[in-house]
Amino acid sequence: MEEVELFDDRLYLRPWRLGDASAVYQACQDPQIQRWTSVPSPYRLEHAEGFVDEISPAAWRSGTGATFGVFDRATGQLLAATGIHHIAEREAPAGGRGELGYWCAEWARGKGVMTDASRLVCKWAFTDTGAGGLGLARIDWHAEVGNDASRRVAEKLGFTIEGMMRQRIVHQGQRNDAWAAGLLRGELR
Ligand SMILES: CC(C)(COP(=O)(O)OP(=O)(O)OC[C@H]1O[C@@H](n2cnc3c(N)ncnc32)[C@H](O)[C@@H]1OP(=O)(O)O)[C@@H](O)C(=O)NCCC(=O)NCCS
Repeated sequence: MEEVELFDDRLYLRPWRLGDASAVYQACQDPQIQRWTSVPSPYRLEHAEGFVDEISPAAWRSGTGATFGVFDRATGQLLAATGIHHIAEREAPAGGRGELGYWCAEWARGKGVMTDASRLVCKWAFTDTGAGGLGLARIDWHAEVGNDASRRVAEKLGFTIEGMMRQRIVHQGQRNDAWAAGLLRGELR
């Protein structure tokens, strides 16, 4: 899969580079990111290096994941991470599917960064492959029950909460219930 860059007036999104590891390491010290996402805990610098230099580029190469660092367009500061994981069925005539995932650095929260950045990614993901997009027809979203801030972001993007999946998410050795939602082409807000 060809790597792309996305931007709006204030945000710049690009695939991760090795030089991002230190900022990713700092962001992922946040207890909220460790509580609600699947990042390792404790989170070490080698985890960040492995993510930006191996896991993320491999997903782009294999076409299974499109993960972006979100940066302040003016200052270059790391603000967030967003992307589409588990990409599948892109060759299907009816379009493919994938799953949206994100975290926002503690220092950038509450300013609409996550919603705006993920909107850019979903818009690109729904764009036809012939026009440089991912050609998805459906984007999934899951979050542990109780992650109200994440659910709010998904709902602002236009996702429909479709149900609760029992013990869907493993977190630190324990299976927890998850909200499940979906976004179809034409539903993005
Ligand atoms: C969820 C998260 C990404 C949101 O990032 P953000 O940049 O603050 O998001 P936005 O500013 O775009 O929108 C946040 C919305 O959630 C709301 N919100 C924030 N905390 C909330 C809470 N505890 N309960 C309900 N709503 C909440 C905000 O008011 C805002 O909604 P509004 O625009 O209607 O006021 C961020 O809190 C985070 O990184 N959390 C930890 C990691 C995580 O949970 N990732 C998702 C895993 S599924």
